[in-house]
Amino acid sequence: MLSGLRRLEYRGYDSAGVAMPVGGVIEWRKRSGKIANLEAEIAARPLPSTNIAIGHTRWATHGAPTDRNSHPHVAGRIAIVHNGIIENHDQLRAELPGDEFSSETDSEVAAHLLRREVEAGKGLTEAVRAVVARLEGAFTLVAVDAADPGRIVAARRNSPLVVGVGDGEYFLASDVAAFIAYTRDAIELGQDQIVELSREGVTVTTFEGAPAETQPFHVDWDLEAAQKQGFDWFMRKEIFEQPKAVADTLLGRLNDKGELTLDELRMSPELLRRVNKIVVVACGTAFYAGLVAKYAIEHWTRIPCEVELASEFRYRDPIIDPMTLVVTISQSGETADTLMAIRHAREQHAKVIAICNTNGATIPRESDAVIYTHAGPEIGVASTKGFTTQLVACYLLGLYLAQVRGMKYGDEIAALLSELERMPEAIQRMLDAKASVYDLAADLVDANSVLFLGRHVGYPSALEGALKLKELAYIHAEGFAAGELKHGPIALISENLPVFVVVPPKGRDQLRDKVISNIAEVRARGARTIVLAEADDEEAGAVAETLIELPKVSTLLQPLVAIIPLQLFACELATVKGHDVDQPRNLAKSVTVE
Ligand code: F6R
Repeated sequence: MLSGLRRLEYRGYDSAGVAMPVGGVIEWRKRSGKIANLEAEIAARPLPSTNIAIGHTRWATHGAPTDRNSHPHVAGRIAIVHNGIIENHDQLRAELPGDEFSSETDSEVAAHLLRREVEAGKGLTEAVRAVVARLEGAFTLVAVDAADPGRIVAARRNSPLVVGVGDGEYFLASDVAAFIAYTRDAIELGQDQIVELSREGVTVTTFEGAPAETQPFHVDWDLEAAQKQGFDWFMRKEIFEQPKAVADTLLGRLNDKGELTLDELRMSPELLRRVNKIVVVACGTAFYAGLVAKYAIEHWTRIPCEVELASEFRYRDPIIDPMTLVVTISQSGETADTLMAIRHAREQHAKVIAICNTNGATIPRESDAVIYTHAGPEIGVASTKGFTTQLVACYLLGLYLAQVRGMKYGDEIAALLSELERMPEAIQRMLDAKASVYDLAADLVDANSVLFLGRHVGYPSALEGALKLKELAYIHAEGFAAGELKHGPIALISENLPVFVVVPPKGRDQLRDKVISNIAEVRARGARTIVLAEADDEEAGAVAETLIELPKVSTLLQPLVAIIPLQLFACELATVKGHDVDQPRNLAKSVTVE
């Protein structure tokens, strides 16, 4: 159980706990803080041996990350763990007069409701069925009953849950990483399903009690992929995996007629030809990948493309109809904001394509079609190879739409794909130059604010560079469109303020000249300019205090290389500052609440 929790710790690490039905009672241990605290507690107060247990690692929503608010929550013979938010918990608590609550969480109410149901004579599965009918919001709920110690029952609505099928053993977890050391065979659970695990096997039913269809799948990565392999951080390992991740995402895309193939996109070319608007919806880093997608898709297809934060999308009554193609981008495939945006889009009869890195996750399952990125598991909380492979998937989608709509043909597609195929090598060159970026990070360790500027696709690169620094190094960082500087942010420029600027490739001279003028403007005000530009770009070199050389690539693809030093910089600066790079404060990998 502890090894499984350790592998899930990246999803939330405020507190952790375990519980087990043994000898007619629930035994449990829980502690705030990292799993190491729970391990120390168990070492001090060992648990008995048993073959059924539940555990949890928490990202706090309701109630501070204290020992008491940690999961599991125990009520009499019942113990539960919960992922999600029970929105009507206050009302439910009010309906349980006389029950003594020991935490401030929304989750505990589920334990009390279950206790009442089993004490009234229901079996655990029926009790769970009765309780979920009363819960509003998002939940994965897993329960054990001390009076029936051979069974685990779980229910799933909106939050993720997968079953691992081992040899004479079963697992339940929010993601397969928890049990990948034991089995790669898994079963996806659908929305509003209840699963019962016992010696007799796995039984899945709907919330109403009807037998449910399940989808078995095999995980295509192994334990090694989920380990650090000699790197100090998962994040650093994942940064260095990007050449392979990008190559894997490109694999097998060109057929022998020189056409781009996206076989997994189960969407007819007729339908794609009818699309008159594209809306890209995502959060955080994935949103920045979406901003790049807009430039590429509009340029290649001439279809108007909007990009929207998923958390804003459904609340502003967006104009979408059956001719709108909604493209969602999500590494985890479980981000609640993005999932809710998909549901809203589909209610308006728009078609939804998901770009996702996680096989069998909720977002691809609820979309009309999916393009999987093949980055392998991303465990560092800050997204890196997730981002670059999302960019590749966006490029592929843009090119595919252009091909289907007759805007680009064999030779052009083949040329663009072959440039994409050279990108792993270009990324590798950026990685090979890590030493100078690490030196820069050591040099700037005392900076308390850093700006990032770019135009065109350099602008989303700047935003992503700033986000990486904020979340890992806890430094104030902002990304701006370089042209906006003079409309306000230039007031922030002061002596020695580090300003990173992404310069477009030579050949886009109109655009590039403007950026170089912007660099001169900040330099004139005493800022320290760190310029990302092509090696032979002498004008850029002249205004750079520090030059980070970029390989020659076409403008639209430049974010794939420009982001690499920005990722390395944030990772190294946070390391030098002594921060936990893989588990930055207050964050969680999979944000399954809105
Ligand atoms: C930042 C980061 C987040 C995620 C965002 C969306 O480094 O990782 O901003 O990009 O939470 O997550 P997914 O892609 O899983 O939907």
